[in-house]
Amino acid sequence: MRDKTVLVTGATGFVGQNVTKKLLEDGYFVCAIVRNPEKLKNLFLEYPDNLIPIKIKNPEEKDYRFYSKLITDYNISSIIHIAAITGERNISWEEYYKTNVLWTKNLAYGFVDANINHNVFIFTSTVGVYGTIPKYLPADESHPYDPDGKYHKSKALAEKELLSLKEEYDFPLVIFRPTTIYGKGDYSFLYKISKLVKKRSFFYFNNPKISLIDVDYLSSMYFYAVKNKISGIYNIAENPITLEDLLRFIKKATGGKYYKLPSFLLKVVLQIPNDILRIKLKLITFDRYYSTKKIEKLGLPTSDTLKHLEKYMEWYNERKTQ
Ligand SMILES: NC(=O)c1ccc[n+]([C@@H]2O[C@H](COP(=O)([O-])OP(=O)(O)OC[C@H]3O[C@@H](n4cnc5c(N)ncnc54)[C@H](OP(=O)(O)O)[C@@H]3O)[C@@H](O)[C@H]2O)c1
Repeated sequence: MRDKTVLVTGATGFVGQNVTKKLLEDGYFVCAIVRNPEKLKNLFLEYPDNLIPIKIKNPEEKDYRFYSKLITDYNISSIIHIAAITGERNISWEEYYKTNVLWTKNLAYGFVDANINHNVFIFTSTVGVYGTIPKYLPADESHPYDPDGKYHKSKALAEKELLSLKEEYDFPLVIFRPTTIYGKGDYSFLYKISKLVKKRSFFYFNNPKISLIDVDYLSSMYFYAVKNKISGIYNIAENPITLEDLLRFIKKATGGKYYKLPSFLLKVVLQIPNDILRIKLKLITFDRYYSTKKIEKLGLPTSDTLKHLEKYMEWYNERKTQ
């Protein structure tokens, strides 16, 4: 049992739910640091014995000694750190820093300090550390850091903290940089586009090539990393798809409609001094896709979005509100 105990953060969120399910299905024991154990238990009613909820009200405020003891007490050999304040929101930099940077640092330092067999520490970052729109395409893992907005900046800073900790203590570290994720449980990018297309109120300017990632594939990457003890930094993305191919697919599935606006309007809209709006607009306007050569070298082939999307259209079609 002990080799199969993994500590997961963010297990009540979109990605965390999917990753936790995969681990439980495979017989892993999951210690989940959560703020709401009831929510967690309701999500995983079928696995009452393998799931260990650890309720911590403000996990971002605990120091490394707290985590070192917790990791030692539960004899945890791998950590999958998924929890974060995600996306660009009207939240102060201090909150982003505390949750996305300080918590990550304390958890990793606790892992290093714990008296355990160290298997792997996996940090969930984002391709946003290259900036919403990368400087070159496909952006590979050597692309310089160029984060825009508080969310991307906090993830880049957390990565830097982890890399300097690794430099000092040489522990097994994996950094996953997923692109925009879709699948069951998503209330973000593809969810919002689907709703707008369905309501016949999606407007866009360009037809960029973008890459997305299926949450199922991403979940299997965590699983692979724990099982095979890999290390390093990896982009996680599917082959690029054009926005219009994606919209056509959504339109067919939802019976909705979308509208292309003249591109001169784009310049005007991009002038609006609102970071959240600008980032959202950039995501559907400019090319953003990523090299997956590193992950393919592990023998994990990249796939096409439209092959996977079908299985989620019921989710996107039926879900009304969060
Ligand atoms: N979704 C994407 O497209 C995408 C793309 C690239 C990278 N990522 C990364 O993937 C990870 C998961 O994203 P997601 O889409 O699953 O986000 P999500 O659905 O918003 O889930 C975030 C999780 O983090 C937890 N959390 C946030 N702040 C916390 C705090 N202060 N203390 C304890 N728990 C806290 C939430 O707990 P509660 O349930 O209690 O609120 C939730 O379980 C994040 O690290 C994100 O940066 C996501």
